[in-house]
Amino acid sequence: MKSQIYNQAKYYEIAFSFIDPKKQGNLFEQFTKKYGEIKVEAVLDLACGTALQLREMAKRGYKAIGLDASSGMLDYLKKESLRESVKIEKVKADMNNFTLKQKVDFAYIMMGSIVYTKNNNLLLSHLNSVADCLNSGGLYLIENLNIDWANPKFWKPQIWTMKRGKVKVKTTFQLVPRNLLSQVVTQIIKLEVDDNGKKMEFIDKDEVKIIAPEEFKLLVEKNDKFEFVGFFEREKVKPLKEISSNNIALLRRK
Ligand SMILES: C[S@@+](CC[C@H](N)C(=O)[O-])C[C@H]1O[C@@H](n2cnc3c(N)ncnc32)[C@H](O)[C@@H]1O
Repeated sequence: MKSQIYNQAKYYEIAFSFIDPKKQGNLFEQFTKKYGEIKVEAVLDLACGTALQLREMAKRGYKAIGLDASSGMLDYLKKESLRESVKIEKVKADMNNFTLKQKVDFAYIMMGSIVYTKNNNLLLSHLNSVADCLNSGGLYLIENLNIDWANPKFWKPQIWTMKRGKVKVKTTFQLVPRNLLSQVVTQIIKLEVDDNGKKMEFIDKDEVKIIAPEEFKLLVEKNDKFEFVGFFEREKVKPLKEISSNNIALLRRK
């Protein structure tokens, strides 16, 4: 996979280390308890990257499977999971067309990574692949669908800096309109790294698609393998009252 950012797993992890894996693990368990219809033993992290959440789920005793297209991310995950003595099965595959050797009871995709379905046909194909490996009654949780595009803030650059030891990473994330008739935008992620005084810059520009909430629901209906449970707040099991980029879409396998 050609990506400057995702081949820099350590710097990516530092850049996005504002997340709290314990809180996210608790949230997953609250969702599966309330809306899932089966006991959760095996979980699948799609576009897992360095998989902070999956490492937490493995520590809680779940069978943990992480899928990603980037060897850089999976190699880093292998190293970190060995260091932390957690067991994680790693699968290198395209999340839009994959099969797993075993079924899981809960699947999730975090940090807006659903955007890498890139168009409606690939989203449908992605849903087919997830459905094929998810047991009936199991949940598929999608964090941060790109639905809030009518909000001017959606188009503004987001800039933040994170530090770990003597490594500092400044991240700039921005969506820029490209062809709004087909809902295509350019997603730009830039990492400016200062690693013990050595300065580096990595940048990815991807063409991705924004989506409307009702369009998403229709695609789920067309796919016909999931029930749409609802849109929720990003950090609470609380139905979303107003449109927001901080959202979770929850599906349940029929
Ligand atoms: C924004 S990162 C998210 C990583 C991690 N889940 C997190 O929450 O920090 C997006 C991940 O998607 C992966 N990715 C992009 N396109 C993909 C595809 N078609 N199939 C599988 N993984 C993909 C990248 O390699 C990267 O690890």
